[in-house]
Amino acid sequence: MSASPLAGKRIVLGVTGGIAAYKAIEVSRRLVDAGAHVVPIMTDAAQHFVGATTLSALASEPVQTELWNNPTTPIPHTEVGQGADLIIVAPATAKSIAAYRMGYSHDLLQNTLIATRAPVIVCPAMHTEMWEHPSVVDNIATLRARGVHIVEPETGRLAGGDVGAGRLASPETIVAAAERLLGPSDLAGVKVVVSAGGTREPIDAVRVIANRSSGKQGYAIAAEAAARGAQVTLVSTVGLPTPADVQVVAVETAAEMQSAMETAAGDHDVIVMAAAVADFRPSNAASGKIKKHDGVPEITLEPTPDILAALGGSKRAGQVLVGFAAETADLISNAQGKLERKRLDLIVANDVSAPGVGFAHDTNAVTMLRPDAKPVEIDLATKRDVARAVIDAVVDIRSAR
Ligand code: CTP
Repeated sequence: MSASPLAGKRIVLGVTGGIAAYKAIEVSRRLVDAGAHVVPIMTDAAQHFVGATTLSALASEPVQTELWNNPTTPIPHTEVGQGADLIIVAPATAKSIAAYRMGYSHDLLQNTLIATRAPVIVCPAMHTEMWEHPSVVDNIATLRARGVHIVEPETGRLAGGDVGAGRLASPETIVAAAERLLGPSDLAGVKVVVSAGGTREPIDAVRVIANRSSGKQGYAIAAEAAARGAQVTLVSTVGLPTPADVQVVAVETAAEMQSAMETAAGDHDVIVMAAAVADFRPSNAASGKIKKHDGVPEITLEPTPDILAALGGSKRAGQVLVGFAAETADLISNAQGKLERKRLDLIVANDVSAPGVGFAHDTNAVTMLRPDAKPVEIDLATKRDVARAVIDAVVDIRSAR
């Protein structure tokens, strides 16, 4: 299994003085989890918001703050930037953005930014009025034109209870931007559709037949495909945070999912059915609520369409079709049967009765089967790691054609 593109990379994390500075701690933790070496720098103002001790503990080395008398190196103004594979500034205040635009190297972070040839990601966070001020708009446009990557702030709650644009992007989005920048672009220009989550089939106006799928594995596959340059559509039954650069189509039932998947199949190159589709649905859902005093209802079920099998039947030349198999027994033989019956290029089989595997967990363990290659086993790993292995296999299938 290939490692995260961040593994072994030296990433400088510059934290400036905004209320969102506390989120930099989570950015650091995620980068370290992905195997990066995080070199933290804080401005004086940042230390009003979070303590250097906290960030030091969660980064790969102690926080550096000083341009003068820096205990780490005698030439901090160039050494940190020269050794970096990537610099992320999160949060970036209006002042730090202005200084960077001007090359105004008054502190360690600004020196580092102009003494580097590494790519730079700037993640602005400020009040809406400041974010929309012509000076900030102009500074951002200039930085962008110079090749600086801007992770746009989100709209949401700001300090003091205001609501608007200017909230720091989520740590997940910031780390995804880093992965996209340092990782391979082996799906650039490729259109990928992924289904995720369990379908819900109505019994009446308030009750549904559902299953235990959380959608996390499908979301991780969508995020990984997007990080590798694909244009990604995610057909989802759940409300997890939307991964960066992914278009979500919300559905609920197997019928809605089938229609969304069939529409997407017309022009997508890779189809991944990670969703847990109900095999049966009530044949006559009541339009109102079934009342208790009417007695225990008898619910008659009918089969749902097998979306994946239908997609296998109408597969276009060159299209790659990936299915999942959730099993509790005879994992390999059941998955092999589905691979052949549904005419798949790849099936990802998991034993959902094993500890830490499948539904709702953050981890998974899978065996990947292909018609013409040896099975590949992925031992218990994060769902993102499993997603990377699935996308590696998709890239391999495409390049073998
Ligand atoms: N699938 C589908 N439509 C269905 C049922 C399943 O598209 N109505 C897809 C799933 O998204 C998954 C694959 O088929 O990619 C296998 O699903 P799984 O539930 O493991 O198998 P089933 O085909 O339902 O067979 P069984 O119930 O016998 O395990």
